[in-house]
Amino acid sequence: MKTKEALVIDLFAGPGGLGEGFSSVKDGNGHAFFKIGVSVEKEASAHKTLTTRAFYRKIKDSGIGLNSYNDYLLGNLTREELFSRFPLEAKEAQQETLYTPHALGDDNDDIHQRIEELVKAHGNKPRVVIGGPPCQAYSLAGRSRNAGIKDYKAEKDHRNFLYKEYLKVLSIAQPDVFVMENVRGILSAKIDGEIMFPRILKDLRAPGRVTKIATPRYKVFSLVVKAKDATNPVYDDPSDFLIKSENYGVPQARHRVILLGVRADLGGIPGTLIPFDHQSTVEQVLGELPKLRSGFSKRKDITKDWETTISKNATTINRLLKERFKQAGALDIKPLKKLARSASQPVEYPRQMPKHLIEWYRAEKPPCVLNHETRGHMESDFLRYAFSAAYTQLSDGTSPKARDFPDDLAPAHENWKSGAHADRFRTQAANKCSTTVTSHISKDGHYFIHYDPKQCRSLTVREAARLQTFPDNYLFEGNRTQQYVQVGNAVPPYLAQQIGRIVLELLT
Ligand SMILES: C[S@@+](CC[C@H](N)C(=O)[O-])C[C@H]1O[C@@H](n2cnc3c(N)ncnc32)[C@H](O)[C@@H]1O
Repeated sequence: MKTKEALVIDLFAGPGGLGEGFSSVKDGNGHAFFKIGVSVEKEASAHKTLTTRAFYRKIKDSGIGLNSYNDYLLGNLTREELFSRFPLEAKEAQQETLYTPHALGDDNDDIHQRIEELVKAHGNKPRVVIGGPPCQAYSLAGRSRNAGIKDYKAEKDHRNFLYKEYLKVLSIAQPDVFVMENVRGILSAKIDGEIMFPRILKDLRAPGRVTKIATPRYKVFSLVVKAKDATNPVYDDPSDFLIKSENYGVPQARHRVILLGVRADLGGIPGTLIPFDHQSTVEQVLGELPKLRSGFSKRKDITKDWETTISKNATTINRLLKERFKQAGALDIKPLKKLARSASQPVEYPRQMPKHLIEWYRAEKPPCVLNHETRGHMESDFLRYAFSAAYTQLSDGTSPKARDFPDDLAPAHENWKSGAHADRFRTQAANKCSTTVTSHISKDGHYFIHYDPKQCRSLTVREAARLQTFPDNYLFEGNRTQQYVQVGNAVPPYLAQQIGRIVLELLT
């Protein structure tokens, strides 16, 4: 027997990390419990990714649909051809993402109308709102950008109040549960001298007070700390809402605030996430992806030239490292030969990959590795990348700070050693979980250097997507820069699945 399925309203959906995790949750009968009714996203490439994924979910159970989707991934079919073969599913997928990118705040008529229709059609089955309103004032990067703007007033920047759009949707959809994700900065952000977090919590507990629409009240729970009094969950420390993804099977230190709102009259007490015994490492999840070389960004890109340059660099770096590490002489950092810049062969799953992640990545195995193409780098950065990767290997996973770089490799920043640039180049160590994959990865690869000096490069979109736990057949649309931004913005789907399970338990 099929249990009732829950309607999901996905706001600020990005490429759909949260939605993917929720969509993968099965009820006791093996049926998908959460059904995304609408995903709202304003950026065109992320919107395209969402639509492709929505389409895939609709055709994946049909053999013929899956073959066609795989043909699209292989480049044998255009997206238009794919959609035209399955017009019904394509239309449903496009409807799910409102046909075009939509911005909450600007396009509310369309968005709210669709949500009202869905809520009405869904009857009294459970409803869930998910998503995280971005906010300039919360993110440290946003704060420092704004500090440089003359006469900037945080209280006048509408982007600091997008969470009120979230409240409006809570008033319209009146969900049983909501899940709101945000960066850690939300805990300390101030506007007009006022710390915003207590006010945001207060507003989420009683959205109607802000929206002036009669709305149920909500209890807001942490997903990692049990409330002392579950009937009235209040927490001693705002950081009780912080989730450290690396403790939950994600090979990445990603710390995000995630709030679980439960309609006060629902009466249930949600569980908390169960920590894993071990953290997963970068090499465990990237080790078996096809090896690639970087490219020259400022000159003609020829494989032979790359090999010669990296070989020459290896001699310099071996000399520089010997001054520091006794064992440096034994380290082979000569470039791998005949590497390509992109790969599309079938994916291998190594034995060292933790079982939970093999099952997760390959549950829907693609016919070839997707979005796995390297960037070009400045020739002067090749030396720094190789040095950083080799140093990290020799120091058992500690990436060198600016002060650890030899003077010969220092970039021409006046205050390179002052501390401001301490982490300008960061290798993602093979034997640890990665640092947070942020959308900054789209700008340059300096914080996301591959641990293998023989490839001398930054991570590809697919590698970043693996660290974010996107399944291997999740296709990121748009150009490469846009793909990096999408991956960096997402909630790790594997974490989202665990949150989805807690919500399922609560609702059934
Ligand atoms: C942090 S990302 C969300 C990630 C998403 N929850 C996931 O798991 O993949 C925030 C997204 O909100 C989008 N966005 C920003 N302002 C928006 C608005 N007013 N309406 C709709 N989307 C918006 C951004 O383009 C970005 O993709």
